Amino acid sequence: WIIKSSLIDPDGGSLVDLVVPQNERNFKISEAESLPKVGLTKIDLEWVHVLSEGWASPLKGFMRENEYLQSLHFNSLRIQDGSFVNMSLPIVLAIDDQTKMQIGSSPNVALVGPNGDLVAILRSIEIYKHNKEERVARTWGTTAPGLPYVEQVITPAGNWLIGGELEVLTEIKYNDGLDHYRISPKELRNEFDRREADAVFAFQLRNPVHNGHALLMNDTRKRLLDMGYKNPILLLHPLGGFTKADDVPLDVRMEQHSKVLEDGILDPQTTVVAIFPSPMHYAGPTEVQWHAKARINAGANFYIVGRDPAGMGHPTEKRDLYDPDHGKKVLSMAPGLEKLNILPFRVAAYDTVAKKMAFFDPSRAKEFLFISGTKMRTYARSGENPPDGFMCPGGWKVLVNYYASLQEE
Ligand code: ADX
Repeated sequence: WIIKSSLIDPDGGSLVDLVVPQNERNFKISEAESLPKVGLTKIDLEWVHVLSEGWASPLKGFMRENEYLQSLHFNSLRIQDGSFVNMSLPIVLAIDDQTKMQIGSSPNVALVGPNGDLVAILRSIEIYKHNKEERVARTWGTTAPGLPYVEQVITPAGNWLIGGELEVLTEIKYNDGLDHYRISPKELRNEFDRREADAVFAFQLRNPVHNGHALLMNDTRKRLLDMGYKNPILLLHPLGGFTKADDVPLDVRMEQHSKVLEDGILDPQTTVVAIFPSPMHYAGPTEVQWHAKARINAGANFYIVGRDPAGMGHPTEKRDLYDPDHGKKVLSMAPGLEKLNILPFRVAAYDTVAKKMAFFDPSRAKEFLFISGTKMRTYARSGENPPDGFMCPGGWKVLVNYYASLQEE
């Protein structure tokens, strides 16, 4: 018989898989060759990857206008049974006037990757206006200049969006030595079942793991054991798509994360490390909903959230772009995420008395040291070590080497 998985159901009930079955591949490739072509940027391709594996289930392709408007205005999508799933970021594909003209009245188009290879067919397409200012204002809550995703992706993009159902011709690979970490939601679910997990708690990150992050994860494990779970599994889930220029690149982060497990800061026996293929928007409370929703699809029923998730400094002012507490507050109330257990955490900082990372205690604020990304870079560049207990030595060494390599350039 079939052993029923006890994992949380994917959004919409079943996991979307948009990769064409092997036996239909050749046939679909020849069809794609005959269709009008739409070129994909590197980041468009990351979204094709995200859609193809069902991270955005039940979404079956780039958004049509009705999906786009629901996402933009309600942060959610109404599904067939009348209920709502969370969908806080528009997943859209932009085209320019010339491409629109070339498509003409063709109902289907072929998507071509940055290297010129056929990637997918987009079916029953709909082309509609790309209202960039409104998209940016609604997604980020600001149109201030200097938002990385806006400047690099949206501003240079075409004035039209093209939606439709996606059929991906072959699995998306990057051949960068990290593909073995790119585990699909289906494969992750199989892995959690194989390990007989009775709870899965996800940790989204785009930065190196310091002992403050580890505190959140280890504390969660303790809380879950106290609640009676016997085998909670941690999904350490670094984001692998587009990030801003001053973030630490993915390959360096993956190496740093391995050291954190080797040095025993996190327990390798109860941790699965994988890459979340989504690009990063830095849209704070709006984006953190996407981060959480995608992890439901990967089988996580608990989601850790701390200070200023998916946040960044304001691009033109000297302050955080978002209230650092809003991410966790919004997540705990977000429509469509009711079935996900949100685990909100206070900010962790370096306790100079206990000489370790600890939850910030405002009554002795002066004894805490906040070590930001910028501060970390300054330490690494000057060859100075951060205080003992901030990060495991193996992990810190990876960062020192990375920053040293930057200085040589
Ligand atoms: S994010 O863009 O992926 O959210 P980051 O990698 O910095 O950024 O953070 C990963 C997770 O750790 C988020 O849930 C964030 O809120 C949390 N976090 C980061 N730094 C701290 C901190 N000092 N204290 C508490 N939580 C933190």
